[in-house]
Amino acid sequence: MPFLSATLDRVKPSPTIAVTTLAQELKAAGRDVIGLGAGEPDFDTPDNIKAAAIAAINAGKTKYTAPDGIAELKQAIVDKFARENGLSYTTRQISVGTGGKQILYNALMATLNAGDEVIIPAPYWVSYPDMVLLAGGEPVAVECGIETSFKMTPEQLEAAITPRTKWLIFNSPSNPTGAGYTAAELKGLTDVLMRHPHVWVMSDDMYEHLVFDDFTFTTPAQVEPELYDRTLTCNGVSKAYAMTGWRIGYAGGPEQLITAMRKIQSQSTSNPCTISQWAAVEALNGPQAFLAENKVVFQRRRDLVVAMLNEAEGITCPTPEGAFYVYPSIAGCIGKTSAGGAKIETDEDFSRALLEETGVAVVFGAAFGLSPAFRVSYATSDEQLREACSRIQRFCATLR
Ligand SMILES: Cc1ncc(COP(=O)(O)O)c(C=O)c1O
Repeated sequence: MPFLSATLDRVKPSPTIAVTTLAQELKAAGRDVIGLGAGEPDFDTPDNIKAAAIAAINAGKTKYTAPDGIAELKQAIVDKFARENGLSYTTRQISVGTGGKQILYNALMATLNAGDEVIIPAPYWVSYPDMVLLAGGEPVAVECGIETSFKMTPEQLEAAITPRTKWLIFNSPSNPTGAGYTAAELKGLTDVLMRHPHVWVMSDDMYEHLVFDDFTFTTPAQVEPELYDRTLTCNGVSKAYAMTGWRIGYAGGPEQLITAMRKIQSQSTSNPCTISQWAAVEALNGPQAFLAENKVVFQRRRDLVVAMLNEAEGITCPTPEGAFYVYPSIAGCIGKTSAGGAKIETDEDFSRALLEETGVAVVFGAAFGLSPAFRVSYATSDEQLREACSRIQRFCATLR
């Protein structure tokens, strides 16, 4: 009898964490490494949020809470959805989890049966397919290439739906491409969903606040109110408020689903960290100026990185609407050989040679389901970004 679960054979460890770990190891060994792999803001958590956590500790708010969140945080989330998204939920329709990741995982665990299909536009956040597999479902990746700015078309969605489809996972702005759907583009997708009442939509709005230029963020239940009863609107404080380590995510959705998710959580992690929940109350209810300040910094970095990468030979880098990622194509580098003698046949070859020969760590496109490309996280200083992009330019210039 095998000791390890057969379910484990279906999934792979997170490649983004693997790249970050390798870069850290090289750094520890004395190499000059610039990590562009990590998916978290380089800013510190704002002081008012830290102060709320300290106050919670001092007030003795350090015990278990209800499994899916304290009433004060649920109310803050209800208010946030009403204020920012025009969505009306009651606190009974809100679930708080240990990060957005656990919210998505709970929802999949609560709903998937063997053979149920989940449509995932590719390139996708690395965890979606593996979470679906862990929950016993079947991920159905739909390749959305550079020609549609990495966005799924209504025709692609229509073609991917089968009688077994349970969910569409929708992520805008996207990790890894930064692509954001306009309200009109999203309406094209929700119109398709309206024709297929058995398909639910899990909207991962984690990068809602990181949108640039004149782009306006919208979410499915807002664009098509008739989808409200089969939409789980997921979000969290990690990216917007620089709170990745605090581990608070949340969702609004139909009460029956929220109750099922609570059951999973109550038998796995119990409640999310009590202190972090109080910090999240302050993040959502407190001053929001931090968000606008961050946007300015990230937009400047996006423009810097897109311009410099487009100057590199063999690279084409579209300008995304949001998040803190770009997803350049390296089609023009495939088949070449690096100065260090590495044959570049895949994007994994490219990123390994880039790391070994220049010390720049990026995540290869195959990890996100669309090649040949790589993901750059520009959540690091302008100086580091300028240096990293110069190294990428030099690396590409020496490919033969
Ligand atoms: C698209 C997307 N969704 C969800 C998450 C999970 O965020 P967290 O669990 O830190 O709240 C991430 C983190 O990288 C992400 O990129």
